[in-house]
Amino acid sequence: MLNKAFSTFPMLTTERLTLRQLSESDVQEIFLLRSDKTINKFLNRKPSETLDDALSFIKNIRSNELLYWAVTQTKSEKLVGTICLFDLSDELSKCEIGYELLADHQGKGIMSEALQKVVGFAVDTVGVKTIEAFTHKENHSSTKLLEKLNFKRINIVEETNPNLLLFRLSN
Ligand SMILES: CC(C)(COP(=O)(O)OP(=O)(O)OC[C@H]1O[C@@H](n2cnc3c(N)ncnc32)[C@H](O)[C@@H]1OP(=O)(O)O)[C@@H](O)C(=O)NCCC(=O)NCCS
Repeated sequence: MLNKAFSTFPMLTTERLTLRQLSESDVQEIFLLRSDKTINKFLNRKPSETLDDALSFIKNIRSNELLYWAVTQTKSEKLVGTICLFDLSDELSKCEIGYELLADHQGKGIMSEALQKVVGFAVDTVGVKTIEAFTHKENHSSTKLLEKLNFKRINIVEETNPNLLLFRLSN
């Protein structure tokens, strides 16, 4: 996906944050994120059970050249969360977005700041017209975040999982 639009990974910065490419040195933090029961509660994914699982995940992300950012606070290299644009349509007009933050870094506005930057990048640089996010109906932090960023709830029932709500941002 990345190859189609960019020759190098698009690093992004905000007032407090640097969004950079995921690296194998992020293995410990990726393991923390992907093995955390609270973070995984509303995410339909296989949890990481070992550091090797986390490393395989990172290798897979990097080999597929996805638009998957490690969210860091600019003063530190350490990953505190991730954001990904995925399922980019062939004509680059539509994609999905996903995000997560380590527990210690929630409640500080980090994801709102990061998401705003990535949405701006998707629209202004990639030319995406529609960004969608599926979130569990009880995932109130995620719903609040999407509404803050002006995503609108679309009233459709996701057949494969009726607990998911669809939010859409259209340009
Ligand atoms: C979804 C998720 C990223 C939201 O994290 P979050 O910390 O609530 O979101 P933000 O970083 O935008 O922080 C917002 C909070 O920080 C507070 N805040 C503190 N300082 C702030 C600042 N400088 N600017 C903005 N908000 C600030 C806000 O008031 C808000 O708190 P509130 O929810 O109590 O009102 C997080 O809950 C998570 O990782 N969940 C698990 C993974 C997941 O479910 N992902 C979604 C998949 S669809």
